[in-house]
Amino acid sequence: MTTVLRAHAEDQYAEELAILAEEDDRPRPAGWRLSPRAVTTYILGDGDRVTPKYIGPRRVVEVAVATLATDRALLLLGVPGTAKTWLSEHLAAAVSGDSTLLVQGTAGTVEEAVRYGWNYARLLAEGPSGRALTPSPVMRAMAEGRLARIEELTRMPSDVQDALITVLSEKTLPIPELNREVQALRGFNLIATANDRDRGVNELSSALRRRFNTVVLPLPATTEEEVDIVSRRVGQLGRSLELPAAATGPEEIRRVVTVFRELRAGVTEDGRTKVKSPSGPLSTAEAISVLTGGIALAAHFGDGVLRPRDVADGIVGAVVQDPVSDRVVWHEYLETVVRERRDWHDLYRACRDAG
Ligand SMILES: Nc1ncnc2c1ncn2[C@@H]1O[C@H](COP(=O)(O)OP(=O)(O)OP(=O)(O)O)[C@@H](O)[C@H]1O
Ligand SMILES: [Mg+2]
Repeated sequence: MTTVLRAHAEDQYAEELAILAEEDDRPRPAGWRLSPRAVTTYILGDGDRVTPKYIGPRRVVEVAVATLATDRALLLLGVPGTAKTWLSEHLAAAVSGDSTLLVQGTAGTVEEAVRYGWNYARLLAEGPSGRALTPSPVMRAMAEGRLARIEELTRMPSDVQDALITVLSEKTLPIPELNREVQALRGFNLIATANDRDRGVNELSSALRRRFNTVVLPLPATTEEEVDIVSRRVGQLGRSLELPAAATGPEEIRRVVTVFRELRAGVTEDGRTKVKSPSGPLSTAEAISVLTGGIALAAHFGDGVLRPRDVADGIVGAVVQDPVSDRVVWHEYLETVVRERRDWHDLYRACRDAG
């Protein structure tokens, strides 16, 4: 049997979605698989049969879900690694049962990606026809009354962004070549994500911005919360990659998270020592990668227990993005903070050896 490397959320969590749908007795907006309340439970978990997907303030999720039930689209904004993409996938899975109607925004995204294109062989053979038309994910979402997702909206050129204005304000997509239009069915809406750090790359036009309700995803508020997020995701990833279970002491996760948080904040947790921040974002997502990589090392090349040396290279790699300035920042932190901490000597030595 072949298995996909990463199942879509609606497949991976099909069972949870089915349970929620079965027990959901609240009104569902037209075209929705679940009520807004049940969607929120799917996202945040119920402490029992439904696992939490997003860990963060309930209100943020409620506002996001409520927005999708209005005529405004949802823009998830935040610094890198705050689960914008992750949340958007799970929202689409819960609301529409389909998270695959996805457009990846880049500087090279063309209008066809948000409107429609043509199958040129057919177009030449038959002229413009419905069969020669290749719908974009957005067009399909409109025709099927589902959610479409646009990743990194602000990286798309402004004229491509503007193609969304008609879609969002008129809820229709004209096809002049066929003298036709596709009108959005109920249930259609759009979730876009954009990176805080990209601000200014291609600013959203004010006309488009007005059609979005912006929800800012915060960084985890406390170390405990971030350790919780990282532990859960590392566990899930390890299982889905079928990594041999390496024993991960929660201390190792806590130390990586602490290093990242302190460097991000520019100050140690006790508030006593100022440190410089490196150029990279040191996101929760990167902490997850460092630990997953560490577990693979420990499982395949170590003794099955996650040791400081298994995470040291990952930490240094995440911190030192700019080989000159970040290295200075890192060494200062290593010598003034890591070295001085009681119980951190093993981590200090491992990091020093890693470079
Ligand atoms: N609050 C959180 N709750 C659950 N998972 C989280 C949280 N924050 C980060 N993650 C995890 O971090 C990983 C990366 O998140 P994601 O790719 O969605 O970030 P992003 O905000 O889209 O980043 P980018 O701006 O780089 O695209 C995911 O595996 C996600 O599970
Ligand atoms: Mg993303």
